[in-house]
Amino acid sequence: ANKKLLVLPGDGIGPEVMREVGRVVGWLGRERGVRFDISEDLVGGASVDAYGVPIRDEVVAAAKAADAVLFGAVGGPKWKDVPFELRPEVAILRLRQELELFANLRPATVLDPLVDASTLKPDVVRGLDIMIVRETVGGIYFGEPRGIEDLPGGGQRGINTEIYTTSEIERVARVAFDLARVRGGKLCSVEKSNVMESGLLWKQVVTALGERDYPDVELSHMLADNCAMQLVRNPRQFDVIVTGNLFGDLLSDLASMLTGSLGMLPSATLGGVLPDGRRPALYEPIHGSAPDIAGTRQANPLAQILSFAMLLRYSLKMEAEAAMIEAACTRVLSSGLRTADIMSPGMARVSTSVMGEAVLRE
Ligand code: NAI
Ligand code: MG
Repeated sequence: ANKKLLVLPGDGIGPEVMREVGRVVGWLGRERGVRFDISEDLVGGASVDAYGVPIRDEVVAAAKAADAVLFGAVGGPKWKDVPFELRPEVAILRLRQELELFANLRPATVLDPLVDASTLKPDVVRGLDIMIVRETVGGIYFGEPRGIEDLPGGGQRGINTEIYTTSEIERVARVAFDLARVRGGKLCSVEKSNVMESGLLWKQVVTALGERDYPDVELSHMLADNCAMQLVRNPRQFDVIVTGNLFGDLLSDLASMLTGSLGMLPSATLGGVLPDGRRPALYEPIHGSAPDIAGTRQANPLAQILSFAMLLRYSLKMEAEAAMIEAACTRVLSSGLRTADIMSPGMARVSTSVMGEAVLRE
């Protein structure tokens, strides 16, 4: 049977960059005989305007039934002052929760033609290719107790609790070990086991899992503050990094800036394997809906196209096609084409659709 994809372009530049993925999908059908069952729907502000909610139950159900979800971006100034449950971002939060997408994969890759876009020196980042795996449904953002309490003597206290269980740690670590196995064979587990009990358990569980099931993967441990320093000092020492929700949030944003181009970075969020063998997964660029440039044909479509390449690799096991799309993106950049966000002297500035067409040609 054809693989089922749910496409959710969202708001702002979301639909603009998704259109360029459509070209690639069309090409795969025509030239390689790869057919998908694709359905498309509204999410975010577009759904608020059309249906009064950021995501409909039918769309959540379709996401659960799909082999993978390709997401654009949601949000914008138009929906800034609405009640929380009507905020466009609720769409992505609900999908993460209902599909139990617990492992967020954030590659930070420096493509050769863009080595000068990095905030670091070219010789520090040339060839950089790291993958940060962040736990996304547990940890301090979700732990109980939480809240703001009045103190008897006056004043208040704000409480958040970091809780991680063995199974929560194991399932995300397994994703990271599996990735390390097919990449450079190295995994670095990051926590603060020196000052946090949840971090100590994290380290113990990852160590035990490594010894038991992944003796072929070279496992190391690093404290989160040191990891932040090492990512800036010598980022190429890392292959795969696995960490909890809070540290992963910070470190993955830090790592993305090493590459210097928001419009280039894809991501994936994976859930657990279901009884029928499918694994819920959502792919999206890390950038938002960029309302400041929406409608101006300036958006860089490469992050969305590379998110589709990740979908092919991780959800559909189409490694050859994924690698082909990635190589095409690199060749387009080598040929000197740039969207505004990655423009540099001597390069040719092109629009969203010209960039998409160029990828297709390559
Ligand atoms: P943003 O990522 O949308 O934009 C930040 C800056 O980068 C802007 O100057 C924008 O023009 C530029 N930029 C982003 N993607 C680009 C691309 N593909 N090509 C060229 N330039 C690009 O982040 P911002 O401005 O903080 O948020 C805008 C809206 O997006 C907000 O409503 C926010 O809530 C939402 N957002 C949604 C996300 C999602 O859907 N997962 C993630 C992040 C933000
Ligand atoms: Mg963040």
